[in-house]
Amino acid sequence: MSLYAFTLGRQYKLSIAEIGSVFGWENIRDFDRDIAIVETEKILDTNTLHLLGGTIRIISLQIPKAGFKEYIESHIKKIQSDKINIALSAYGDEIDRKNLSSNIKNTMKKHGKNIRYVGENHKNINAGSYKKNRLGKYQTEYNLVNIGEKTYFGITLACQDVDAYARRDITKIRDMEIGMMPPKLVQILLNIASHQDTTKTIYDPFCGLGTTLIEAIDAGFHAVYGSDLNPEMVANSKNSVSNFVHEEEKWQQKIREKGGTPRHDIRTLQWDIWQQNAEKIDESPIWKHSDPSQTIIISEGFLGEIVTRNTFSKEKIQTIRNHLKVLYSHFFHGLKCLHFDGSIIMSFPFWKKDRECIYFREIYQIIRENGFAIKPMVPEKYDLMTKENTLLYARKTHLVGREIILIQKQK
Ligand SMILES: C[S@@+](CC[C@H](N)C(=O)[O-])C[C@H]1O[C@@H](n2cnc3c(N)ncnc32)[C@H](O)[C@@H]1O
Repeated sequence: MSLYAFTLGRQYKLSIAEIGSVFGWENIRDFDRDIAIVETEKILDTNTLHLLGGTIRIISLQIPKAGFKEYIESHIKKIQSDKINIALSAYGDEIDRKNLSSNIKNTMKKHGKNIRYVGENHKNINAGSYKKNRLGKYQTEYNLVNIGEKTYFGITLACQDVDAYARRDITKIRDMEIGMMPPKLVQILLNIASHQDTTKTIYDPFCGLGTTLIEAIDAGFHAVYGSDLNPEMVANSKNSVSNFVHEEEKWQQKIREKGGTPRHDIRTLQWDIWQQNAEKIDESPIWKHSDPSQTIIISEGFLGEIVTRNTFSKEKIQTIRNHLKVLYSHFFHGLKCLHFDGSIIMSFPFWKKDRECIYFREIYQIIRENGFAIKPMVPEKYDLMTKENTLLYARKTHLVGREIILIQKQK
């Protein structure tokens, strides 16, 4: 078993839910808002990180045998290069990066190594500078991790590739008006609902621009379907998915020609997108392809009419809730008629008005009266979820947030 630290994204509760679902709750040793400590037999690498939406870095940890400076120096001595960039990061503690790096520089000079310190004195470097300074190449971000009563030293194994997310961002308009799910959030939801079991079929019945489908394909799922009421959205998402698949095919072919093996085999992928009213989900063509028990419905449903600061009022929100109530009553009734016994993970809107959060409370009742239950995404003892066992995703400046709900058939 090896120890790793995962540094967490801004929405740390969702990050924890994702890590627990992928690595098993029994393997989480500790966590706070910034970091989670995981003990696992799995060998983790850049690929592990690529599939996680809520983790910024993975750090390979060691229990300290001597001081932090000695730990760093003994590692640098083993690096087969004379010019080395290093970064120093600390979690749950402060370090004098400037002083420490200049001490290390002096000692290492005697060993013929030229050390360049990357970063500022008072804070950890971000994912962008990690990439810019090519730190991954020599694995030279050193981390001091203090959590609970424990201290660890570690080397960063992988750091989130900011450019890769920008490439997958199919539109630059990412606000809640269009309602495109951030790709990182889609990855988190996929991991929570699937535990990375890529044999499951993925279906998004409100697929919009197709973000969930693209992320599911990228994660290696082989059967990925979507539908939307709006024919324009169907055409748009078909186009985006088809472009993505085409690029991925070319990329995988290149890897094979160089003798490598791609992370997954895109040639076995089956995908399609139809026009379909989600209120009649029991009539969707998906059920000709997939058994409900093997299907994961993952979706950001319809958010209701667009609200702006000018049109935002409590009455307006109630009107939207009434509209959504009708839509989702039909949707869950359709799933009930289907005897749907797979998993459902969905994001529903909540609204922020005068420091108050207004939830779409009707949805809890709709879920239950159709024979479904809201499943906790994090063990209750950690006390991370709302009273309704949901998790929230919100940005400070947005009027509308997302309430994430994991749903399964009531036993
Ligand atoms: C918030 S968007 C989904 C965005 C999507 N998650 C993405 O990242 O692009 C909601 C979508 O629901 C669709 N929609 C609204 N009512 C619907 C219905 N009754 N059945 C199916 N789709 C519907 C809209 O056309 C819109 O594309």
